[in-house]
Amino acid sequence: MFLGAPGAGKGTQAKRVAEAASVAHISTGDMLRQEVSAGTPLGLEAKTFMDAGKLVPDEVIIGMVRARIQQPDARSAWILDGFPRTLPQAEALDRNLSGSAALSHVIYFAVPESVLIGRLSGRRTCSKCGAIWHVEHQPTKTPGICDQCGGALVQRSDDRPEAIGKRLEVYRSQTSPLLAYYRDRRILREIDANRSPDVVYKELLKLMQ
Ligand code: AP5
Repeated sequence: MFLGAPGAGKGTQAKRVAEAASVAHISTGDMLRQEVSAGTPLGLEAKTFMDAGKLVPDEVIIGMVRARIQQPDARSAWILDGFPRTLPQAEALDRNLSGSAALSHVIYFAVPESVLIGRLSGRRTCSKCGAIWHVEHQPTKTPGICDQCGGALVQRSDDRPEAIGKRLEVYRSQTSPLLAYYRDRRILREIDANRSPDVVYKELLKLMQ
């Protein structure tokens, strides 16, 4: 499980590691954004919370992850990105959510808050394939166009300054207590994620062995 503040680089690395290791990448943020763009009742409910930078209620998220983890590609191994992020979610995962697979590593992406704000405000995401870019740190060859698929890049609605401030506050109050929770279980590993994506990726592979 990849744990860290908004903008710490969890999604960037989870996509890469999951592809290299051929395991399911379970990102609750991506799943919610798909529900929002499909206009489902779950998406409509979630959008209000997401745009305000707040967490979607635990029962909604736990039900969504429970269904996802039972799909064939996720039965034996997965990378969880953005879940759990509250103590009730962590307890649900411990109880029975994960089926036959168990949480073996929790990797904490450590990045100073001043760096996170710059990463979030410069992030651009491909509207077609979901690739993650940054106007300065990971720019595309042609501004506004995804290098991977030619799709148009968009800015997430929760990457506006007001929502960023709220998300960082919610991370501090509701998600950071999970550090102690997993430290006590001796499965927490920390990575200095304030380095280039390639350096972080290489260290991540070592930590996950
Ligand atoms: P979610 O999509 O999970 O957002 P998040 O946790 O806030 O994390 P981010 O996606 O913002 O950041 P990231 O760490 O993945 O960074 P990234 O790799 O993109 O959740 C969105 C919302 O959904 C939540 O606010 C909530 O409402 C709801 N939600 C989701 N899960 C939930 C749950 N479990 N419970 C309740 N509600 C839930 O990188 C950021 C930028 O930095 C990019 O531009 C990237 O190119 C750049 N970058 C990455 N790595 C580096 C590097 N090493 N150096 C320089 N730049 C870098």
